[in-house]
Amino acid sequence: MNSSENCENANKDRFAVTTPLYYVNDLPHIGSAYTTIAADAITRFYRLQGKSVLLITGTDEHGQKIQRTAESRGLSPQAHCDEVAAGFKALWQKLNIQYDRFSRTSTPRHEAIVKEFFTRVWEQGDIYLSQQQGWYCVSCEEFKEERELLAGHRCAIHTNREAEWRDEQNYFFRLSKYQDQLEALYQDQPDFIQPEIRRNEVLSFVSQGLKDFSISRVNLDWGFPVPVDPGHTLYVWFDALLGYVTALLDEESDPRLDQALARWWPINLHLIGKDILRFHAVYWPAMLMSADLPLPQQVFGHGFLTKDGQKMGKSLGNTIDPFELIEHYGSDAIRYYLLKEIEFGRDGDFSAIRFVNIVNADLANDLGNLLNRILKLAHKYCNGQVPAFVELDISIDNPLKQIGLGLGDRIIRAYNVLAFHQVCEEVLGLVKTGNKFVDEQAPWTLLKQGQQAVGEWVLYSVLEAVRLAAYFLSPIIPTTSNAIYRQLGFAVDLEDKTLPPLFRNHSTWGMLPAGQALSDPQPVFLKLELKEPNVEN
Ligand code: MSP
Repeated sequence: MNSSENCENANKDRFAVTTPLYYVNDLPHIGSAYTTIAADAITRFYRLQGKSVLLITGTDEHGQKIQRTAESRGLSPQAHCDEVAAGFKALWQKLNIQYDRFSRTSTPRHEAIVKEFFTRVWEQGDIYLSQQQGWYCVSCEEFKEERELLAGHRCAIHTNREAEWRDEQNYFFRLSKYQDQLEALYQDQPDFIQPEIRRNEVLSFVSQGLKDFSISRVNLDWGFPVPVDPGHTLYVWFDALLGYVTALLDEESDPRLDQALARWWPINLHLIGKDILRFHAVYWPAMLMSADLPLPQQVFGHGFLTKDGQKMGKSLGNTIDPFELIEHYGSDAIRYYLLKEIEFGRDGDFSAIRFVNIVNADLANDLGNLLNRILKLAHKYCNGQVPAFVELDISIDNPLKQIGLGLGDRIIRAYNVLAFHQVCEEVLGLVKTGNKFVDEQAPWTLLKQGQQAVGEWVLYSVLEAVRLAAYFLSPIIPTTSNAIYRQLGFAVDLEDKTLPPLFRNHSTWGMLPAGQALSDPQPVFLKLELKEPNVEN
């Protein structure tokens, strides 16, 4: 397999997405949950569309940062990693993340993959020994240029940490050799890096001329030994990126590159935060070029969740505990707020008041109450059944049908470019029109006065609008969407990974079967009560 086969391998019916592999220096916070929620939503969406999908997440367990954290806790690095990795898994379960693979970089299988990959790059002549001098930020696990640092050699991301001076022999990867090839890649595949602002950042960085980077450390035990010189330990990022490859191994396969890359490679989408863009959009493709392997299709760098304008982070100690939030508000509320309120790609502040207000307005009032009102009427005036209005009977001058007919295409386009906020806005537009339509038509009066046909015309179109809304939001708020589908009388679990193919057509207007028995109206989303989250400070 080589890089020119990239396009042929990118099978349209399958989609593999990765979250970053999270450092285990601490339990996950709401910022680390952000990428995973987005990855889960896009995976669920493609699954709904009938694609084979694979969601990869996991933990990045080596390096100085982890070694020091374990030491400070009086634990062996492995025992520390086992504990924190279990914490990540527990959070993903509570957040309703349907991941397929959980990659841990401290496993022997991963070591075998890293060794084979290193050997390929070594045999290309792309690794050499030299002297490394520079400022190292342990929280970033990255050397920094003097000009990138704040006063007192503090890191611009981890503003409370001073970078450390290093002067040691390291192995280097010949990144500079790939300057032209990388530039050609960005030129030929303009959406390799998204969004545009991140692409421009990378273009500008690369245009300044790429320098080789060191891929080994001395005086560090917690990591894999460099295969050709066990006195050195491999740099955590060299091994971490390969965690995406190890994740693709089936349980029963031998830990070899050809086995790992057979089915799901190349990855369609690496979802990451903007702080780790260079590693994914510059170092990683160059490493793959050196090993003569196909490149991923896209790297998308989203923004930061901030607290008072600063990145929320474990090293900064200004995080919000996601377990506490879920406990109090439930996972759908958090998923919805993060994906609706922050344009994916930009930074956004997490404010508890705004969170509660938005979620209550959109999900409890606009969506939940609309369904509830109409279901009650259907029970009172239509024997608890979907009115026998077939799609053809609903004239085009129905405002909900007007929106509903074109909605699917717009939403699919929005999901395809990860514009989750736009998906939510589109759906909300339909739901708000539904509420307005009901207020204007006053179907309770129509039905009471015996105008059954017009009343049913209103009811059917509103129920259908709510169904469409639930369907399109199901990748974002799966629990609520499922509850809506159930109340509309569908005996289906939208979360089922093997959803019957019929439900793939549910993105079009008019799929609610006439005469279907409706369930009893129950609130699908209970109003949230504000509770200020505990913020570490
Ligand atoms: N271990 C590396 C990734 C290796 S991938 C092969 C790493 N880990 S991390 O735990 O520090 O960060 C993981 C991801 O979480 C990054 O994409 C980072 O941007 C994201 N976030 C961490 N804090 C965040 C916010 N406050 N807001 C949004 N995303 C945040 O980097």
